[in-house]
Amino acid sequence: MSAPEQGQLPLGGGIASERPAATTPTVAAPEADTFSKADAFVFLHSLDTASVDLVITDPPYQSLELHRSRGTTTRLVGNWFETLANERLPDLLREVYRVLKPDRHFYLFCDEYVADVIKAQQGVGEARERDGSRECVSGFHFWRELIWMKTTQDGTRPHAGMGYHYRSASERILFFEKGKRKLNDLGVPDVLLAPRPDNGAPAAKPLGVVTTLVAQSTLIGERVVDPFAGSGVVGQAAMNLDRRFLLNDLDDSYLLPEVAKKAMPYRGRFLLVLPRCPSPDHFLEQVIDHEANGARLSAAVAHDLDTLAMVEGAGREVVTKLVATRDIERPATLRRYLRSLPWIQEAMGRTEDRQRYPILKAWLEWIER
Ligand SMILES: C[S@@+](CC[C@H](N)C(=O)[O-])C[C@H]1O[C@@H](n2cnc3c(N)ncnc32)[C@H](O)[C@@H]1O
Repeated sequence: MSAPEQGQLPLGGGIASERPAATTPTVAAPEADTFSKADAFVFLHSLDTASVDLVITDPPYQSLELHRSRGTTTRLVGNWFETLANERLPDLLREVYRVLKPDRHFYLFCDEYVADVIKAQQGVGEARERDGSRECVSGFHFWRELIWMKTTQDGTRPHAGMGYHYRSASERILFFEKGKRKLNDLGVPDVLLAPRPDNGAPAAKPLGVVTTLVAQSTLIGERVVDPFAGSGVVGQAAMNLDRRFLLNDLDDSYLLPEVAKKAMPYRGRFLLVLPRCPSPDHFLEQVIDHEANGARLSAAVAHDLDTLAMVEGAGREVVTKLVATRDIERPATLRRYLRSLPWIQEAMGRTEDRQRYPILKAWLEWIER
């Protein structure tokens, strides 16, 4: 596949949810090997309930900020990706649980901070089931933390990374189960050794480790999903093992070439369309200022323009039209335009979404004024 242009979704619309909608629109999951460029939650919403066989993922955790602020690493300073607030993690687990078929596994890469947060959020305490697993509020059973031990490139020693009180040479992989599924090989240890990949992708995970997880928890032909795919290593492992993959990430620039080549554009429909600008007034001000002074658009405005372009094929046209309109008439022109859009009309009819997404609510109230 040639990866889609920056800011474009291959098909359909909408990105950047703050929280997943209760009214989850679903379409049949695509058959095979796809990449989509959307917000992870929007991507997950677009998948059918009980439609995939394995999820392995590695979100951009809030704890990255902690490492950045302590300055324990130079790698994390600078413009990386936006992070996912801890409070959104329960939604992530709930969505992953929903899209997995019964009797399937879920692996979540994280550090020790986030491992604690997730266990607390999921109510994972002392009490264990008879089989030793622990029940989670999301419906999963939590089995254990696997460890990815980072080695030197020659694989002979641990490679110490961040932190001052014993430098960290490991990452956690939380292993969850929906229903009951046997691992394919019961002899695999819970510490997986591999050097950090040097493919240039931030926080990339090693193919060897991911391959073990895919091999352990799927059969040939089954469908593996990663909503925060980064380099797409999950896709690479799936390909190598004759499994199928559905990858998603807001950024496609780090995709491994082989994965990018194999991946088809995603054919699901992204129905949840959420603006990022706090209000249309804010959107208008910045867009006009941009046209007049060449000022840089904020990420939120750029996102909303992209969304208009993706959903309606009209992002730039709207701006040109607004710029050509007299100051005083601009809000009415934008309002009329937005009212004519089917996805806005759809959103206007869903009070639940409005309650859930304050920014959407602000836009809809402005449009209805
Ligand atoms: C820790 S990295 C994943 C690395 C990946 N496991 C690999 O091995 O290359 C997190 C990824 O999440 C992506 N991301 C950040 N926010 C996102 C969002 N809201 N939706 C989808 N992807 C997002 C980033 O672009 C980044 O590629």
